[in-house]
Amino acid sequence: MWWMCLLLLVAPLGSAQTFSCGACPRVEPQKGFEVQRYLGRWFEITKLPASFERGKCIEANYALRQDGTIEVLNKQMEQPGTLTPIVGTAVIRNQSEPAKLAVGFSYYSLPGMYWVLYTDYDSVTVVYSCTDILRLFRVEFGWVLARNRTLSDETRAMAEGVLEKAGVKLCQLIPTDQTGCSVDTL
Ligand SMILES: *[C@@H]1O[C@H](CO)[C@@H](O)[C@H](O)[C@H]1NC(C)=O
Ligand SMILES: *[C@@H]1O[C@H](CO)[C@@H](O)[C@H](O)[C@H]1NC(C)=O
Repeated sequence: MWWMCLLLLVAPLGSAQTFSCGACPRVEPQKGFEVQRYLGRWFEITKLPASFERGKCIEANYALRQDGTIEVLNKQMEQPGTLTPIVGTAVIRNQSEPAKLAVGFSYYSLPGMYWVLYTDYDSVTVVYSCTDILRLFRVEFGWVLARNRTLSDETRAMAEGVLEKAGVKLCQLIPTDQTGCSVDTL
């Protein structure tokens, strides 16, 4: 079966997603996750390549809606001085597993998984997403987000270590440019 996956991987997939051979790994999300403490603003520090995130100054804002779903407001700067927003919805499908969220944006028909592997709520969070395709290969997303636009090297190394433990190759992570983002302070 492996040769089939390799064939698929060399085919021009036409996107900057992270494809790997083999099924998704088993990962443990954060225990005792408290969504209330998680709400608010997070800045992207580093990530696995994702075709829908080509800009800089990427940030996410999470807010609880009346109906119990979570509004996801992502912004990125694709043109200097302009932040492009995109709104999605996150849901906790099983209250016994609150760190396993599903997020959907209007651009995508199917919600993707958004698992919080680690967060201290106040400085850093590590998010992982993986989709199995035919149990042959997988598409992965991984993010380190922080409450500030910069993160200390120490905290960042710890957060990247969480992704590494989930099987993410650290050499694939790309840092997000969080400089020259002053438009959103206006
Ligand atoms: C919810 O999660 C618990 C704990 O993992 C699991 O035992 C249960 O089967 C899940 N419920 C549903 C409806 O999936
Ligand atoms: C965020 O940055 C500010 C200013 O640089 C600093 O005082 C604060 O401690 C930082 N917060 C965290 C959680 O790193």
